[in-house]
Amino acid sequence: MQTSDNVEQAMPRYYAQRAAEYERVFDKPHRQADIATLKAWLRGQFAGRHVLEVATGTGFWLPEATADAASWLGTDLNAEVLAIARLKPLDFTRVGFELANAYALGDTLRGRRFDAAFAGLWFSHVPMSRREAWLRGLHAQLSRGARVVLMDNRYVDGDSTPVTRFDAEGNGFQRRQLSDGSEHEVLKNFPTADEFAALLGGRPFEFRELGYFWTLVYEV
Ligand SMILES: C[S@@+](CC[C@H](N)C(=O)[O-])C[C@H]1O[C@@H](n2cnc3c(N)ncnc32)[C@H](O)[C@@H]1O
Repeated sequence: MQTSDNVEQAMPRYYAQRAAEYERVFDKPHRQADIATLKAWLRGQFAGRHVLEVATGTGFWLPEATADAASWLGTDLNAEVLAIARLKPLDFTRVGFELANAYALGDTLRGRRFDAAFAGLWFSHVPMSRREAWLRGLHAQLSRGARVVLMDNRYVDGDSTPVTRFDAEGNGFQRRQLSDGSEHEVLKNFPTADEFAALLGGRPFEFRELGYFWTLVYEV
């Protein structure tokens, strides 16, 4: 049984090891319509804004998401994934990357403020017991009225990797294999609109479900 400490260490190690093959997950033919919808939608979300991105990974969404942003700082714990993000066709006069721990953003950002935040396919990996603190830490980096955009996978029977167990606090775990044959157990949750209503404590929000993804937008 994994404790929450080693779960949080195992997850970034898994993504460092997966960096070169990460984007294969976006090749699934039946997900292409959703992916195209999301890319077009993301572009509009950040127009004219100074954006902080958490857990950027390989930067799959960035050519579209950053297109009209005033500035964009992509952050991740792993240098391996940011090295791939830096190869994307981006306007590097407005887009930059830095290593940062999503659970200690203030340590890296040191008072810099943003008027938008984005995290794609990240929130599903935040343990239930850390959700509130993670959101609080994110909001602390943002100016009043900033827009927060989260998006992630929906659980789709027969398509998603099955959840093989739940821990005592309700986190789900999937068993995943990389092309080198290594096996990894990864914490992956599938939050609902009701869970966000509780977490956001009465703040208005828009939760949208596509076939394979959900999106959440609200202001701080
Ligand atoms: C599922 S990937 C998401 C990548 C990208 N945002 C996307 O939508 O494709 C999760 C990312 O979280 C990063 N990560 C894991 N733990 C982290 C932490 N504590 N702080 C920052 N990034 C972390 C991993 O390196 C990985 O790039």
